[in-house]
Amino acid sequence: MLGKLLDSAAEKRDAILDGNTNAVRLVDGAGDGVPGFALESYASKWMAMTPGGEIAGDVKDWLKAGGKSVYWKRLDKHQKESPVHLYGAEAVPPQDAVETDCGGTPQPQSFLIRENGLAFEVSFQSGYSQGIFLDQRLNRAEVMRRMAGGGKLLNLFSYTGGFSVAGATGGGETTTLDLSAVYLEWAKRNFRHNAMDDAAHYFCKGDAFHWLKRFAKQGRKFDGIVIDPPTFSRDEKGKVFLVERDFGELAELAGKVLAKGGWMLCCTNFRGIPEKDFMRMIAMPNMEPAAMPEDFPEEPYLKSVWVG
Ligand SMILES: C[S@@+](CC[C@H](N)C(=O)[O-])C[C@H]1O[C@@H](n2cnc3c(N)ncnc32)[C@H](O)[C@@H]1O
Repeated sequence: MLGKLLDSAAEKRDAILDGNTNAVRLVDGAGDGVPGFALESYASKWMAMTPGGEIAGDVKDWLKAGGKSVYWKRLDKHQKESPVHLYGAEAVPPQDAVETDCGGTPQPQSFLIRENGLAFEVSFQSGYSQGIFLDQRLNRAEVMRRMAGGGKLLNLFSYTGGFSVAGATGGGETTTLDLSAVYLEWAKRNFRHNAMDDAAHYFCKGDAFHWLKRFAKQGRKFDGIVIDPPTFSRDEKGKVFLVERDFGELAELAGKVLAKGGWMLCCTNFRGIPEKDFMRMIAMPNMEPAAMPEDFPEEPYLKSVWVG
């Protein structure tokens, strides 16, 4: 019975997995009739996720029978640990790590996935997340479309630069901003994996608030701004960011560096803010909420609002 549910969940994703995209959420908990269990496939390497300590025996049997390389991540206090290897081959034998199809060199223990024709570096050994959030697939595609006429894109809280790569592929000049030098380097590699020169784009290390004030003073303007912060963070100086407290100020600061006729994408995955409250925090004219991708049927936790 459970095996059938899992088979049918995975089959439903066949339409997404084509020659251009090989990373998808295969099972999304209660949305696929399997509460407490999620599974993502990254170039046929599987990442299972559970909120707590165990995977049910019949789910384990199904995972094993799939014959893939399977890893398991617990979404509780162990979330920051690297996932555990369960079945199949290790995701990346070290000798394969330097082979890419488009010129870049992923880090050891990393491999490339494809999404809408773009390559992104993924690692199952990098702690709390793999290098790309699959729930942002539709938004990355839309950013690519919106930058098709050129223009300047500012990607705040960039992580590994997924939105920047999409915007640059579209035709934009991108500014990628994050607190973490490690993630900015990863973002530069993602540019190179797509045969783009990262030196033709800008990368800023530091706090988003600090940089937005600086850009405003310099009179810099951007045609598109992506704001997709974490729920909580603390910078090197101990300054705390809390999405439910600080998003309004962030949107207001971003508004000051938005070019006339420009657009913003505001996102939060914080389950504690309903969409209408999030829109009230953004408080700008012409707001349009966007739905999550169809491979995430369980709960629309990711709120995405296009402004402008
Ligand atoms: C959840 S990820 C953002 C996901 C990302 N927008 C994407 O598309 O994949 C959070 C990122 O925000 C960065 N970050 C946290 N606090 C920050 C701050 N105050 N200023 C700039 N970046 C910050 C972290 O280093 C991390 O890379």
